[in-house]
Amino acid sequence: MKSATISMVGMLVLAASLMMISGPSQATDFPTGNANAGQSKVSAVCAMCHGPDGNSTSPQYPKLAGQHANYLEYQLESFQSGQRSSSIMSGMAAMLSKQDIANVAAYLWFFAGFRGASSLASIP
Ligand code: HEC
Repeated sequence: MKSATISMVGMLVLAASLMMISGPSQATDFPTGNANAGQSKVSAVCAMCHGPDGNSTSPQYPKLAGQHANYLEYQLESFQSGQRSSSIMSGMAAMLSKQDIANVAAYLWFFAGFRGASSLASIP
């Protein structure tokens, strides 16, 4: 009887920690865009400055690979609204639809934890 009680407590602790692992921080950052569409956009438009996978090799251009998707979306929307201004990026962001932004953010976010990966295909 006593061991049954202990294992019930153990189960509750396990359940609670699993809930914490899959908790809200992941949910809020999980991208809603289409990473494959984002990859096409990045290679066509953004690659010349930020690199094909967002790993810029020039100190003039920030690295975007592995950045939080909601951070990237927020920055691109800030360029669009004029809240953040850049002679280069304000024009770049103006060309993006809301869906483009979500897609690009999903693609670049994919590299979180996979730094150095050069394509979506190389990510297991
Ligand atoms: C001609 C070069 C160039 C191109 C092309 C370009 N960018 Fe940028 N990007 C920059 C520069 C320069 C900055 C830094 C802006 C500043 O000074 O605030 C920047 C900043 C950013 C930032 C903010 C990064 C941060 O850490 O806050 C994001 C996000 C971004 N670019 C996304 C993109 C996307 C997505 C594309 C393609 C649709 C793109 N950029 C195309 C030059 C470029």
